[in-house]
Amino acid sequence: MTKEQFVKDIRAGIPDTLPEPQAYDTTINHAPKRKDILTEEEKRLALRNALRYFPQKFHAVLAPEFAEELKTYGRIYMYRFRPTYEMYARPIDEYPHRSQQAAAIMMMIQNNLDKAVAQHPHELITYGGNGAVFQNWAQYRLVMKYLSEMTDEQTLVMYSGHPLGLFPSHKNAPRVVVTNGMVIPNYSKPDDWERDNALGVSQYGQMTAGSYMYIGPQGIVHGTTITVLNAARKVGGNNMKLFVTAGLGGMSGAQPKAGNIAGVVSVTAEINPLAARKRYEQGWVDELHENLDELIPAIRKAVEEKRVVSMAYVGNVVDLWERLADENIRVDLGSDQTSLHNPWAGGYYPVGQSLEESKRMMAEAPEEFKEKVQESLRRQVAAINRLTAKGMYFFDYGNAFLLESSRAGADIMGKNGKFRYPSYVQDIMGPMFFDYGFGPFRWVCSSGDPKDLATTDRIATEVLEEIRKTATPDIIGQLDDNIHWIKEAGKNQLVVGSQARILYADSEGRIKIALAFNEAVRSGRISKPVVLGRDHHDVSGTDSPFRETSNIYDGSQFCADMAVQNVIGDSFRGATWVSIHNGGGVGWGEVINGGFGMVVDGSDDSARRIQQMLLWDVNNGIARRSWARNKGSIDAIKREMERTPNLTVTLPNLVDDGIIDKAF
Ligand SMILES: NC(=O)c1ccc[n+]([C@@H]2O[C@H](COP(=O)([O-])OP(=O)(O)OC[C@H]3O[C@@H](n4cnc5c(N)ncnc54)[C@H](O)[C@@H]3O)[C@@H](O)[C@H]2O)c1
Repeated sequence: MTKEQFVKDIRAGIPDTLPEPQAYDTTINHAPKRKDILTEEEKRLALRNALRYFPQKFHAVLAPEFAEELKTYGRIYMYRFRPTYEMYARPIDEYPHRSQQAAAIMMMIQNNLDKAVAQHPHELITYGGNGAVFQNWAQYRLVMKYLSEMTDEQTLVMYSGHPLGLFPSHKNAPRVVVTNGMVIPNYSKPDDWERDNALGVSQYGQMTAGSYMYIGPQGIVHGTTITVLNAARKVGGNNMKLFVTAGLGGMSGAQPKAGNIAGVVSVTAEINPLAARKRYEQGWVDELHENLDELIPAIRKAVEEKRVVSMAYVGNVVDLWERLADENIRVDLGSDQTSLHNPWAGGYYPVGQSLEESKRMMAEAPEEFKEKVQESLRRQVAAINRLTAKGMYFFDYGNAFLLESSRAGADIMGKNGKFRYPSYVQDIMGPMFFDYGFGPFRWVCSSGDPKDLATTDRIATEVLEEIRKTATPDIIGQLDDNIHWIKEAGKNQLVVGSQARILYADSEGRIKIALAFNEAVRSGRISKPVVLGRDHHDVSGTDSPFRETSNIYDGSQFCADMAVQNVIGDSFRGATWVSIHNGGGVGWGEVINGGFGMVVDGSDDSARRIQQMLLWDVNNGIARRSWARNKGSIDAIKREMERTPNLTVTLPNLVDDGIIDKAF
């Protein structure tokens, strides 16, 4: 398709003539069939809901087709309307637009749906099994059309993938405001999601899927690297470390690469051969092994030779754990990144049956499937317990492994009603990173030019090295790891999809790097605007009691004020787009998370927005963590108050435990 045809197609939105039906492409990874949850009356409603996107002249043809999709897949994706042009992040100027900010958002959306990036691209799922950009292709088409015609005096309002419309606003307002999965709290059980999503009225946006900020597995490689690195440091000793985990999907696929960068031997189980092969072909995992008899000696040899290598076991993780325990292999670090935030609909495959059997069972016999998943989790935990008894350090990697295992009745509870094992946020990410404001800052070069990305890497390195000169001892270690990361990033070939980079940085780092990018765009050193953003999984972005806020100990870990305030605050301080989601990471109803995107275009306006918005975006969370009495945050927010005029944060007074004891 030519560039002109692409522009025409975008501008057309819902086409005037019915496109030809498209064959179901069996060469790509598809979403599993969803649960048949709607009543007959609700199915009629789902169809009526879907058809309201189209003129009546199409209804007679589309009604039976959509009814068939609902029956076959459990959802109406409107496959016929999937564009025939290639889906990838194009250079910004290729998008028809009246607002450059809107064009940048179009680029980000297409990146989230690129088949090299997305997990189930034809079902508009970017990662995590159910992390949706849109619910159907009509929504995609309408959104792209709106973005192509909107001005900087309008804001596009997005309700869970559905574009409510363009509303008049002003140039300092966000261009897009996104909500995903915002339901009334009492209707936020997993089956409510199944029903709402099947009806076409709500969606699970994960974190960066429904907020157009996913940058492929690189986004998580950095976080995973610093987690594995610090976990290995915690374990100590000079021996070669063996790290065992599961999942080579959207984000979990970063684990082997992170293992290599952290200098360990890693073994990652992945039951889906397509997912394993994809990561192998992308160079994210070094070896594929299908047979445990052959894998076990390979592990022993690599550890003995102290050879950094990443191996994938193409099979069920439970088989791997049980075999490792039986063979008495010393595992140093253990974790799991199957999609247990979504255990009943394809996030976790039970041991003892094939992928296909599981897919069939979850749709046709959901109760039996649930039993199998829970039995499998009990076995997995039992094997893990045998290895931790011999010294393995196991941590929950933010996928609700501990939570679902406890619900399954696995032997996972320790003393005081707490889990036996920590979450990575309790032990590592919280006290070392979030409490000081370090989080997954990222950017995308809208030119699509790798040279621009290399320039941004150099600029970020210079800025961090300058900051390091006067940094306090409590953050020097983090800065050093981050400087090392950004220096190596180009060599490590982390780009999949858009020309993007992730770099953990704190408030000072993020603001200074962003201002330096703005100057470089202004001077032409960087050829086109840079899009800034972050994962919702950050200092302030997410309230999630078993993950991001699991190291909040004042009882407020079940409150979501921080995430909601964050998005409201970002939106009036200069974000180009904002999003707030129910669910993401650990599951529907379990978390509220939010984020932003910001186009840096070299203007004075951009510089002001960077300063105002990034400061709030990080320090909201530090202030909250400080109020929760987290030591690092108390120090960090005091430093920020010294640096920043007009910032006054309420500080906690610490009470002596003896006084509390005497009071009862
Ligand atoms: N804390 C974090 O920073 C963080 C980062 C990434 C992911 N997560 C969480 O980790 C989970 C995974 O994310 P993702 O994007 O990779 O999801 P994903 O669904 O793309 O990948 C999970 C993979 O696990 C595989 N799998 C499922 N059951 C298995 C089994 N029994 N044995 C072997 N393989 C199995 C699946 O086939 C799939 O490829 C999610 O719950 C996510 O929220 C947390």
